[in-house]
Amino acid sequence: MLHLDPTPWHDVLRHTCACFPNEACGILLGPPPLGPNLHITEAVLAPNVHQGDQTKRYEIGTQLLFDTQRGARARGLHVLAYFHSHPNRSAYFSPTDLAHAHAHSTHLVLSLQNGAFQHAKAFRVDETQAREISLSYPEKMQAPEISAKVAATALAVPHSRIREIADIAMAMDGVLRLYFGESNLPTPAFIKDAAQKALADGFTYYTENAGLPSLRQAIAAKYAELHGVTIDPSREIVVTASGVQALQLGIRCALDPGDEAIVLTPAWQNQISIPAMCNAAVRLAPLTLSEGRYHIDFDLLDSLLTPRTRLLIYTSPSNPTGWVATPADQQALLVFARRHRLWLLADEVYERLYYPDSAPLGTPAPSILRLATREDSVFVVQSFSKAYCMTGWRVGWIVARADFADRATKLNEFIISSAPAFAQRAAETALRDGEPAVREMLALYKSNRDFSLEALRRRPDIQVPQPDGAGYLFPQVAGLQDSFEYCRRLLLETKLGLAPGIAFGPGGESAIRLCYAVERPILAQALSILTT
Ligand SMILES: Cc1ncc(COP(=O)(O)O)c(C=O)c1O
Repeated sequence: MLHLDPTPWHDVLRHTCACFPNEACGILLGPPPLGPNLHITEAVLAPNVHQGDQTKRYEIGTQLLFDTQRGARARGLHVLAYFHSHPNRSAYFSPTDLAHAHAHSTHLVLSLQNGAFQHAKAFRVDETQAREISLSYPEKMQAPEISAKVAATALAVPHSRIREIADIAMAMDGVLRLYFGESNLPTPAFIKDAAQKALADGFTYYTENAGLPSLRQAIAAKYAELHGVTIDPSREIVVTASGVQALQLGIRCALDPGDEAIVLTPAWQNQISIPAMCNAAVRLAPLTLSEGRYHIDFDLLDSLLTPRTRLLIYTSPSNPTGWVATPADQQALLVFARRHRLWLLADEVYERLYYPDSAPLGTPAPSILRLATREDSVFVVQSFSKAYCMTGWRVGWIVARADFADRATKLNEFIISSAPAFAQRAAETALRDGEPAVREMLALYKSNRDFSLEALRRRPDIQVPQPDGAGYLFPQVAGLQDSFEYCRRLLLETKLGLAPGIAFGPGGESAIRLCYAVERPILAQALSILTT
């Protein structure tokens, strides 16, 4: 018979450990000490749990989980993460905390909210996902469900590993912040002026769900100018509040719950997490790296197809690798998508950040829209963020088959209704008058890329595939097995913040991502840290 300790959380922990004799490595998050009789091989107390605003919540020390997991693995143990709230405060753990815990526990996460044991839950954590399991607690310990739960599908969405680095960095001073995909160049003045004029002119109201007609016309005119393709601005373009929202909207229109998406990796994590938010499964297809260039493995794509596959996602120019799909690559992807009746999502937000030695500055990267017909099941996601240094403005767009664009327009009502009117108006000016600014920015980025490549290639243990665009280098570091830990230590020890390759899925395990779309002195400092 199980002896119940007066403090319920002790009992839960004891019982749980009894279910996994001699294999749990415990993490206790929160103030009270462990009882003496608990069957745990090792306990890590966490007095350093960061106490945020005391009246609101505690934050889990992610790093603690991470370190414990590594230590436990090295000793062949499993991790039991155990949470409880401080009994005297109305603290709680957020879904993000729980997602962290799931991500960092090899075996089991037990979450227990409120010291009074109002809610307990156990998860067995496989290689890739947390699966809820039932633990048979004694009747007496069954907690009444008195509060609503965060949806399991929301908890299952993978958390951003880049954010984890950023979260550590944001609490530090003097960090070289090269972990996000963001230039530190300001938005050009003529775009800011256009926004002010738009505000003065009264662009302060909702716009059409598909965006201002004048902006859609400007987008269509740009496609004609850059790619010689005709896009119908009234039927085939939907303006969105950013590229991220374009991805959200487009993927939502392509996938039903239970469908599957294939994502070419290394890929920006949003492309993996957004299908998961649509309750779809994601299959990852790493590009193969040979002779310094990435290639699409169509045999692998074939092997990942199932009757539920509906969507194939690729990014060109690529974040994080700088790889650019050639017209031949794009044609092959299009043929594959047509053959298997898939939606093909081309993320072209880095279209203007293209500077191969073979093309004059300002040449756009090849767009799938040159090859696809307007009847093809293809949609392109675009953004003003990268080409015009407008990350904070949140304006993007989708080009898609008319029926798809029509549905996306209607759903936009329920997501954002419309992108901000004055920002749309300023974006129009960016398209119309932005070529000189784009070229100036490209000249800087291209020389930054060459400068970075030259510096990094001096390190014998680093291999950098030649990138043709996008603003990133994705060096592979020989012998590197844990890119997250590498970036974390680099940050703590040198204040250089880079993105861990693992954040971009298979193919990124031994790589780091460096964003060189920044002013030269910052880049020079970063490279000197990396190369000395
Ligand atoms: C591949 C890719 N797609 C889309 C976006 C979205 O950009 P935004 O939401 O700023 O328009 C990003 C941003 O980094 C990106 O890297």
